[in-house]
Amino acid sequence: MKKQVTDFKSCLKTMPDILVSCRSKDGQDNALAVAYACNCSYDPPMVMVGIVPSRYSYHMIKETGVFVVNLVTEALRKEYAYLGSHSGRDEDKLKALDMKIGEGKKVNAPLLLDCPVNIECTVVDSIKTGSHEMFVGKVAYIHAHEELIQENGRLDFSKINIIKFR
Ligand SMILES: Cc1cc2nc3c(=O)[nH]c(=O)nc-3n(C[C@H](O)[C@H](O)[C@H](O)COP(=O)(O)O)c2cc1C
Repeated sequence: MKKQVTDFKSCLKTMPDILVSCRSKDGQDNALAVAYACNCSYDPPMVMVGIVPSRYSYHMIKETGVFVVNLVTEALRKEYAYLGSHSGRDEDKLKALDMKIGEGKKVNAPLLLDCPVNIECTVVDSIKTGSHEMFVGKVAYIHAHEELIQENGRLDFSKINIIKFR
């Protein structure tokens, strides 16, 4: 027999545990943990990230129209927890964690170099869905460690020890 599930929140699995990095108009770098994220177009390649408007990062992405999706490994569990529970409003989180920052090739946003893959995105649309605003980002460039790239140019996810945070 089936009964009604009463909590409708996050009823689809799996949600990836990614870090979204961004930069304010005046050059302040920040990153936050995001689980509301997915591919949303194959051609052209696009991804979507859901950011709650109260997040400090929200205004950065809204104003600059760019962000970077960083894939996270188990080795970065401590950093993931910190970036997902502290706000850039109160401190420079990336500095506090001594994280290495690189420059985007196509977008003016920071790459988290400790992450094996960095996906540069430009916002082409956004939808206020409720608690989150879903930012649709066109993929502009993907950086990955050489050994993670297959001959056909795709990422080899079997070689990335992707974090399962929850
Ligand atoms: C596992 C996990 C998943 C999260 N997913 C999201 C998400 O999808 N969207 C969001 O806006 N915040 C999400 N958060 C919360 C933010 O990462 C958190 O509020 C962060 O401190 C915001 O940082 P900021 O204020 O510097 O932008 C998540 C946190 C964790 C730990």
